[in-house]
Amino acid sequence: MMDLTRRVAEAADLVTVALDELLPRADGPEARLTEAMRYAALGPGKRLRTFFALETGRMFDLDEGYVLRAACGLECVHAYSLIHDDLPCMDDDDIRRGRPTVHRAYDEMTAVLAGDALQAAAFEIVTHPDTHPDGNVRAELAHRLALAAGARGMVGGQMIDMLGIREDLGGVARMQRLKTGALIACAFELPLVIARAQDAERSALMAFAHDIGLAYQIVDDLLDAEGEAEAVGKAVGKDAAAGKTNFVTLLGADAARERLGLLKTQTKSHLDPFGAQAEFLRASVDFVLERRQ
Ligand code: IPE
Ligand code: IPE
Ligand code: MG
Ligand code: MG
Ligand code: MG
Repeated sequence: MMDLTRRVAEAADLVTVALDELLPRADGPEARLTEAMRYAALGPGKRLRTFFALETGRMFDLDEGYVLRAACGLECVHAYSLIHDDLPCMDDDDIRRGRPTVHRAYDEMTAVLAGDALQAAAFEIVTHPDTHPDGNVRAELAHRLALAAGARGMVGGQMIDMLGIREDLGGVARMQRLKTGALIACAFELPLVIARAQDAERSALMAFAHDIGLAYQIVDDLLDAEGEAEAVGKAVGKDAAAGKTNFVTLLGADAARERLGLLKTQTKSHLDPFGAQAEFLRASVDFVLERRQ
């Protein structure tokens, strides 16, 4: 576990340094915008998506520089999704990653614009020739990221979440697949594109991505129900207070934990074809299930 903690921390450092170089700085009036973008994207996130992407890249012996730039794009989309998710018209949250949310540190219009610009920055980074020498690969990376981010991915899931249409477990699971599952799966898809991976490898990793994304959200819902705001770095108790159904409000905390226990073995089993090469991804399942923040 110690080694894994170090690998996750290394991934976080790498992506933060890379984003610091890639994100724009401005003089003039746009400085407020670029500062807000940097505040959101360089903040102390767990960077789990980057860790997943880099580990997948290692399994396929990919150039780390390419995978890291793809991960930067993904982290920009993720950071934008969090800025907008916290806005008063959405979850109305004041604290994110242990600090004031962007609309609290700046203001609402700056938060909306910083989110918009981070989304554009993601595609600017992914389609830049430095991300991959082959233009077809860059186009495929951008295409995958767009699908994961848009109406058939994260934003679609956010719409379902905001409308509150999910009476049963199937509905909650579908919302999760779009809202958080799509961007988590993208962390595996982007390196798979660079690797030009075989169908069997792709399916095994996509099954892993599906299950780890699901486990991730069940833990997020458990933390929302039972976590301490200070440790979690964001407000808790929000879903029940807002009358939202999630895995924990529907199943109860004990049954949700039981489901996580079953999911743990199943998730790891998808990595069997990769043997020892998947050591850190395998260990990350425990890490995700036991996280407290
Ligand atoms: C928060 O994502 C939103 C969900 C997917 C539940 P993370 O838990 O990955 O947030 P950071 O990036 O570590 O802050
Ligand atoms: C939002 O889900 C996930 C995004 C697409 C940003 P939540 O609203 O549950 O995320 P948290 O709990 O605020 O991080
Ligand atoms: Mg939300
Ligand atoms: Mg939220
Ligand atoms: Mg949540």
